Amino acid sequence: MINLSSVPCKALLQWYQENLRDLPWRHTTDAYHIWISEIMLQQTQVKTVLPRYKQWFQQFPSIQQLADSPLDDVLKAWEGLGYYRRARFIHAASQQIMNKYHGVFPKQFEGILSLPGIGPSTAGAIASFCFAMNTPVLDGNVKRVLKRWHNQAEIGDKQLWALAQAAIDISKKPALWNQAMMELGATLCQSHSAQCTACPVSTTCKAAFLTLNKNISNKKKVVIKDLFWQINLHIHPEKGIWLQQRPEDGIWPGLWTPPIIELSHQPKKIPCHTHRLTHRRIHLYAKKCHSSPPSEGRWVQQLSQLALPTGIHRALAKQRTA
Ligand code: ADE
Repeated sequence: MINLSSVPCKALLQWYQENLRDLPWRHTTDAYHIWISEIMLQQTQVKTVLPRYKQWFQQFPSIQQLADSPLDDVLKAWEGLGYYRRARFIHAASQQIMNKYHGVFPKQFEGILSLPGIGPSTAGAIASFCFAMNTPVLDGNVKRVLKRWHNQAEIGDKQLWALAQAAIDISKKPALWNQAMMELGATLCQSHSAQCTACPVSTTCKAAFLTLNKNISNKKKVVIKDLFWQINLHIHPEKGIWLQQRPEDGIWPGLWTPPIIELSHQPKKIPCHTHRLTHRRIHLYAKKCHSSPPSEGRWVQQLSQLALPTGIHRALAKQRTA
């Protein structure tokens, strides 16, 4: 299907070295740093990750300090980054590294892959960046680049892995190649726009050749569900606000929110805040309550004590200024 001799390794690697963004995780091969950066960068933009990456290592300078910290502190440090499962996995993985690998990040691919929250693509990134292994990365950006390059919009993951592996073998520079592919997907070859005329591989890219920028997005249409949530505000002048911890399954697991009532119908008023998740839009309606709070929960004076979802912070902030 694919003529691998047409993979223009040199052109891509040269483009990357001349155009790379100067990002802090590109100055290290330390596995702890690379691991945290890769997890933070999943579903989160580079500009959001930059300050959080720095703060993380101020708070948790070593895997040992991370493993010894309470989960609530780790969730708090993750506040605003979303997809909190990632923070839980990081915490669990740090404890596994302490117990199983004497505090040293595993160097074998199978060991890396066995850690909670690390899938084959993240394991590929860590193994290639830190231990110079010939392992491909296949995140959303790289998949899109490969699909366009070979004009195979419908190609499945199995074939994409084979393509990614073949390309990396030819490149002989796994770390650089993986970084270059991710950079291409994040910059010139984005899902909504492809700058084929500036692209180092456009001469061999079948999508560029066939369509030269005529809507070559492979994006699937995402179905969004609207949810209508009433947040009950029990506020006491001395004790603060009543918060409950969300259940471990579902939206915002383990985070703290005012009591939430899921409404079956869309209220006639405007929500105080709408929070967007990948497949959901949560419309929040704040309601001041003068009754005593439900039995489950606790008074909280300082919101900074606990991890709250960003959507709840925003709704509360709007409530304060209303
Ligand atoms: N996205 C995922 N990994 C990345 C990396 N190492 N650099 C920039 N963006 C990324």
